[in-house]
Amino acid sequence: MKTVVVGGSGRIGSKVVDELQRRGHVVVAASPSRGFDAMTGAGVDEGLVGADVVVDVSNSPSFEAEAVLRFFETSTGNLLAAERRAGTRHHVVLSIVGADREPDSSYLRAKVAQERLVADGGVPYTIVRATQFFEFLGSIADSATTDGVVRLPSAHLQPIAGADVAAAVADVVEAPPANAIVEVGGPEAIGLDELARRVLAVAGDPRPVITDETATYFGAHIGEMSLTPGPGARTGPTRLDDWLILSRAMGDTARSGGSTTT
Ligand SMILES: NC(=O)c1ccc[n+]([C@@H]2O[C@H](COP(=O)([O-])OP(=O)(O)OC[C@H]3O[C@@H](n4cnc5c(N)ncnc54)[C@H](OP(=O)(O)O)[C@@H]3O)[C@@H](O)[C@H]2O)c1
Repeated sequence: MKTVVVGGSGRIGSKVVDELQRRGHVVVAASPSRGFDAMTGAGVDEGLVGADVVVDVSNSPSFEAEAVLRFFETSTGNLLAAERRAGTRHHVVLSIVGADREPDSSYLRAKVAQERLVADGGVPYTIVRATQFFEFLGSIADSATTDGVVRLPSAHLQPIAGADVAAAVADVVEAPPANAIVEVGGPEAIGLDELARRVLAVAGDPRPVITDETATYFGAHIGEMSLTPGPGARTGPTRLDDWLILSRAMGDTARSGGSTTT
């Protein structure tokens, strides 16, 4: 079985590629830097020849509202059209827990638009909604920083290790299409303010974190539990504090988060 991972060079995509390879799958990592551009369509038909499963873990290079919507609509439309031509049996896309509960967020609105295209796209599918990756928590603190002070509300996230997301996605690749949404989250719901404190403390970052219930999460006012998964969700086993200690020992903490969204 051949699986093409679109966005296979990215933060989560590289972990999905590693996990599938570890399980013995034939995997192709596809992205613009490898001649596969889901926005323009360049290299897409060629890249999907013989693909039984396509995993879309790509992300928009720009998070400006119009740009991100255009990215997810255009790239998803191009992928699904090519998959119908190629006879792909399963389209797996990574979305975000609670995406449909926060219409204030332009990024989450774009993810909901992507999900709708997938559900109506004529290719059997599974939508995996994950919570925020541990690897992304540093970016949250950065985005909430003004004049050296981090301001975040106490609304809860239930973040998850990237490796646990990759394992969940790999399990979905190995299963028949659910034609539904499945959720995956971490083992603990923790306030945004507290998450930032823990991540910065481990990194030795001196920025103070102020609990501010009027503060936003990437520009959106979020509900107390609106980004946490429901009762039927799969739970990744890795606890944040264990992951922070391990990452620190490896010199790779959540502070090396990368791009700033979701
Ligand atoms: N961050 C979170 O906590 C979180 C939580 C739940 C779900 N998600 C979802 O997970 C997905 C991946 O996020 P990430 O943080 O891993 O992304 P990322 O590190 O920014 O990686 C993005 C990937 O997309 C590729 N890409 C960009 N433009 C493309 C195009 N036109 N065609 C094909 N591939 C393209 C990039 O390729 P190049 O390297 O060649 O540029 C890269 O491999 C996103 O859909 C996001 O919504 C994220």
